[in-house]
Amino acid sequence: MLFKTSVKIESADMLILPIYKSKTILAEIKKHLSKCNLQETTSAIDRKIFEGGFGQTLMLCNQKNGKYKIAILIGLGDEKKCDLHKIKKAGSMLAQPIEKTKSKTIAIINTKNDEGVWLAAAMILKGYKFDKYITNPKKKGHKLTSVTICDKNAKALAAKATELQTMVGATIYTRDLVNTTSNDMGPKNMVETAKKIAKEFKNIKINILDRSKLEKMGMGALMAIGKSSQDGPYIVTLEYKNDPKPNTKPIAIIGKGITFDSGGLNLKPTGHIETMHLDKAGACTVLGIIRWLSQNNFKGHVIGVLGLAENLIGSKSIRPGDIITAYNGKTIEILNTDAEGRMILADTIAYTEKELKPSHIISIATLTGAATVALGYDITPFMVTDKTLKKAIEESAKEVDEPVWELPLYEDYCEKVKGTISDITNSSKHVNIRAGVIMGGAFLKAFVKNTPFAHLDMGGTAWAETTDKICCPYGATGANTMLTIETIKKLSA
Ligand code: BES
Ligand code: ZN
Ligand code: ZN
Repeated sequence: MLFKTSVKIESADMLILPIYKSKTILAEIKKHLSKCNLQETTSAIDRKIFEGGFGQTLMLCNQKNGKYKIAILIGLGDEKKCDLHKIKKAGSMLAQPIEKTKSKTIAIINTKNDEGVWLAAAMILKGYKFDKYITNPKKKGHKLTSVTICDKNAKALAAKATELQTMVGATIYTRDLVNTTSNDMGPKNMVETAKKIAKEFKNIKINILDRSKLEKMGMGALMAIGKSSQDGPYIVTLEYKNDPKPNTKPIAIIGKGITFDSGGLNLKPTGHIETMHLDKAGACTVLGIIRWLSQNNFKGHVIGVLGLAENLIGSKSIRPGDIITAYNGKTIEILNTDAEGRMILADTIAYTEKELKPSHIISIATLTGAATVALGYDITPFMVTDKTLKKAIEESAKEVDEPVWELPLYEDYCEKVKGTISDITNSSKHVNIRAGVIMGGAFLKAFVKNTPFAHLDMGGTAWAETTDKICCPYGATGANTMLTIETIKKLSA
């Protein structure tokens, strides 16, 4: 195990000392730094070089052969103002010094509660590198061998450490899948990945619906997109069942798995198309979660459903203006072939509700670019039809610091998904509503009958374009993996 907890301060390449700003700062540090270069620390504090202000760091090198080679003091600022978000920010700051000093073993002094565990999680998430395609071994990502969180109450922290380590593992697993490019992770590869999970992990049953089955079942909306490629489409269900409470229905988590979104005949322009292998992030999140549930022997019943297709251009591609019939019998006019996510999800959701009869449906999808217009790159907009589900999502978001914000399924907007010559249209640009995220949610809602439903639009949060994001380098973020795990825990309690 990478995360350990210990009562004593363990030997390590690097010792991390998180410090609140306080009058007794030196005494605090002295307690821990007996074997490090205390002289330097005292003078740094006397000269007000290090005061424990938020984000301040001081790196010290042990001049003798002590328990650790390097110590880093990291300021956490005012203790009263220090929340999980700040801890994650501070943890992220540690990733670079760890990498630059090539430290392999880390010891962290815990401050209070589970802060030390979260610091460890944050530094690992920030230090992640997607190096599958890097051939030079020197350029591969820096890997830690152990992280020990040191606290007098080590025993009490151990469960949290295990849980968070596996949640970090699930997030990283999701990132690896999302980052894998479309030539290596098409619909068929996604199916193979799901099969591998079902084989390696316990209590998971897999069911695969391929093109011919989907066609026979009348999945017109999914087929409309899937036909554009030779690969796919598929619907894959991964049913995880382990000693659930009696008479409970399963929770369904549905992921958008567009392994490449070219936009179709409404082709995406340069600058917007290159990263469209990210469009399977919802499905990859679902895979990461199902894997986590089994890994942690979670008690409950959860079905992961993947809607898998590629949105390409070919002689079988759907045309703007075409009208198709969806699985639930509704007709959809395809006004924009780039609004493909809602098409595949329409049938996947309707199928899930009809055949799997879940207690709740949570859809996770990179559905709109408009998500960034609404809430930027850090906050996931969501829409929900049920109070209990809303509360579970909002509370979970706070607990793992993955912010969400509810947008309304405003009735007049929901009306506007209706068509003139069809029941529904897949794009509302012609009616000038602009509320792109809500229109996506409104469209999906039209395919749910009465099951409590939530839709998370990860269009802004699935991918980091810059390197300054908390807990995340450039590329796939793995956002909403932890959030949805927490939500499932609450709904299953
Ligand atoms: N996959 C995109 C949304 C997206 C864009 C996610 C950028 C992440 C980053 C989705 O399929 C799409 O193209 N949506 C359209 C919908 C519109 C045509 C109604 C959009 O957002 O423009
Ligand atoms: Zn699209
Ligand atoms: Zn898409």
